[in-house]
Amino acid sequence: MPPLVVEACRLPTPVLRRAADAGQIVLRSWADEHTHAPFADRAWLLRSVRGASAFVGILPTPVDTALLDAAGPSLRVVSTMSVGVDHIDVGAARARGVRVGHTPQVLDGAVADLTLALALAVTRRMLEGERVVRAGAWPGRPWNPLDFVGPALTGKTIGFFGFGGIAQTVVSRLLPFRPARIVYTVSQPRALDLGAPAFRTLAADPYIQLFYEKHRALPLPIENVSRDALAREADIVIVLASLNAHTRHVVDASFLAAMKPSAYLVNVARGPLVDTAALVDALHAQQIAGAALDVVEGEPDISAVHPLLAPELADRVVVMPHIGSATREAREAMADVCAQNALGGIGIGAMPAEI
Ligand code: DGY
Repeated sequence: MPPLVVEACRLPTPVLRRAADAGQIVLRSWADEHTHAPFADRAWLLRSVRGASAFVGILPTPVDTALLDAAGPSLRVVSTMSVGVDHIDVGAARARGVRVGHTPQVLDGAVADLTLALALAVTRRMLEGERVVRAGAWPGRPWNPLDFVGPALTGKTIGFFGFGGIAQTVVSRLLPFRPARIVYTVSQPRALDLGAPAFRTLAADPYIQLFYEKHRALPLPIENVSRDALAREADIVIVLASLNAHTRHVVDASFLAAMKPSAYLVNVARGPLVDTAALVDALHAQQIAGAALDVVEGEPDISAVHPLLAPELADRVVVMPHIGSATREAREAMADVCAQNALGGIGIGAMPAEI
């Protein structure tokens, strides 16, 4: 009997189906049995995973000890269609000899694009403007010199919490906007070395390469700073760290209080990195100018009366429903890597991206 692969939602890739058609695996997919719901409910998962060799999941399906136990000793790999693995108990998987695969790099460009879009949307007051138009209020608000103005990215200090592949891709996307300076903080400070793996994405940018070849320097200063300096100096703080016990609420009341009143917060990583209650307070107290969030603590259970959506904050807060990687290209590439990780973990090829 070929190894059983259990899929918690239909991945946008033919890779697993082809392996099933070729008789290499038996594929049990939630989507084959339930066309009405996009991802598997817990009861189905716990039942269906029994005896599986590979489990393929997405963000809404926590992989905890109960699921690992339900799978039993046959389980060799857990593969998630995400770069983040905070929904997986990686320690428990490792302790059972289960390998864990994820999907780094292939989504960097998509998330970086959305990061920039969010930064522009909140600083240039785009949603506020659109609301005025849709409400039919434009006739009462003819063009005037200071209406809808916001800061330019040019000349500003852009700060990053975390400086992995996505953050560095954001930096390469930001360069044409000519920010004055990039500052970042990481859990393990390191000297700037464009040849180091952590800087691969940035170093691979053709503009940076050309500039570097010509001037032996970067086109702008990129500095590793302390958390406090990041809060104090950045005009836009972009949160792009992974979520773990050390980074939970890393943007808290004290961080927000240290930010400039003219500064903006952009979170495109995980909701719990930001203390939401503190953020709401900081916005009401005008401690910061605004926030743009692709992720929110407690998502997707964010109702229309969530404090971040309070009408008095509407013009300074942009909230998106976790769509950072949602380009067709990125999602298909993530699905391919995820499927290959699942197959690789059971000995059909290699795992392209193992934690
Ligand atoms: C991830 O991959 O971790 C994202 O949050 C979903 O794209």
